[in-house]
Amino acid sequence: MNAHDRQTDLISQLLHDHVPLSKALTELRGVLAETEGGAPSREAHARFAAGVRRMRDDLIEHFSKEEEGLFPFLVDALPAMQRDISALAAAHDGICGAAVRLAALAERDTAAFGKALQQVRALFARFEMAYAEHSKAEQAVLSKVAQGLTEEQRRLVADLARDL
Ligand SMILES: [Fe+2]
Ligand SMILES: [Fe+2]
Repeated sequence: MNAHDRQTDLISQLLHDHVPLSKALTELRGVLAETEGGAPSREAHARFAAGVRRMRDDLIEHFSKEEEGLFPFLVDALPAMQRDISALAAAHDGICGAAVRLAALAERDTAAFGKALQQVRALFARFEMAYAEHSKAEQAVLSKVAQGLTEEQRRLVADLARDL
């Protein structure tokens, strides 16, 4: 494996957890598309609520793991990256805020959820945009980080990333 492949491999491991999260987003987008132009059925509402709950919990878990394990390690290894990594952590709060608010709207009964659908769509659109921007920023920072690590540090990061 050459240096470039090793770097790509490391980043893809770190970002692996984003794949199920992106899938959950696609599912939720699908439910919202189904309810376009009408009141949501009880079944569509239940699917949306369950999906948002799962996504909120997975996000909170994913962000905690990054902030507890990976980010402090990276700042320690590469102090020059501190600002970039702090910015990644700060973005977690806004993304979680939108997920928590979406989950709260989804907990309403189906009629009330249906009435709030416009707000749900707007919130979901903001959430999606913030999440996509964050994933892109994280990918960019991690690619920069991967270039600066020694072989030994790379191995340690790979171990940390396995738990992400
Ligand atoms: Fe992440
Ligand atoms: Fe993150």
